[in-house]
Amino acid sequence: MEKQIRCKTELFPTISATIYGSGNPVNILLLHGFPADSSLWRSLIPLLADKYCLIVPDLPGVGESTFVGDELSMEAVASAMITLLDELKVEQAIVAGHSMGGYIAMAIAALYGSRLAGIAMIHSGATADNEEKVASRQKAITLIEKGGKKAFVEAMIPSLFAEDFRSQHPEVVNAQREQALQVEELSLVSFYKAMIKRPDRLDVLRSAPFPIQWVLGAEDTLAAPSKIMQQTRLGNVNFVVIYKNSSHMAMLECPVQLANDLGHFTDYCTAQLTAHLPA
Ligand code: MLT
Repeated sequence: MEKQIRCKTELFPTISATIYGSGNPVNILLLHGFPADSSLWRSLIPLLADKYCLIVPDLPGVGESTFVGDELSMEAVASAMITLLDELKVEQAIVAGHSMGGYIAMAIAALYGSRLAGIAMIHSGATADNEEKVASRQKAITLIEKGGKKAFVEAMIPSLFAEDFRSQHPEVVNAQREQALQVEELSLVSFYKAMIKRPDRLDVLRSAPFPIQWVLGAEDTLAAPSKIMQQTRLGNVNFVVIYKNSSHMAMLECPVQLANDLGHFTDYCTAQLTAHLPA
């Protein structure tokens, strides 16, 4: 089963999402990263939709979803995702966020924690940008604003994939590059500004009442395991997987493994939740 839904908030005239599958009482909200849209999940969806209900939005400013002005924040997007869950009458969901999608998941946890049955942090982390990262984002913003979107995308996209995968599946890397080129300059810049100003959320991990899954790629330099591993010990219940042959794109590099792991995590969170429901 597949259906389209649209809702809006003050800042976002259209939030568009596709709903796949049904069956499991706990839905999975899949939040894509940057610079992507909901098509990032294309290989994963058919592997999960038989058993789980997936809510797959385009984040504001990409695909079918829009925003007004140039002020984006992780918190505003988090609030729009809650509006989407309200529209769907979903009380609690598992939020699976890829990279920037994980930063949004952290904002949901900070502001609307009771709506979460679990969080899957896919190549993502809970700390703020350090000075070096802020400087590199500012450099990229300047490049994009001077008309260098193509150069930015051409340099960034291949670096997200593991070397072997890149040489064996150039068509997947190309598709991702083409998709990133569709994203408007204003959206790219607004997302980078929003990431620069996102706060550290380690306290959210420390006090998380829900289970957290961590998906890491051994070859990932953006969300490097050496950096993220310390964070995986902070929550109360943590599931950690490190994929040997993956960099930053497990949903495309090893979708079968990711679908299995996300499915097991969802089963665990569902069992936890239903155990606490009145008979
Ligand atoms: C992403 O994959 O969403 C971004 O690369 C995250 C980031 O730039 O921090």
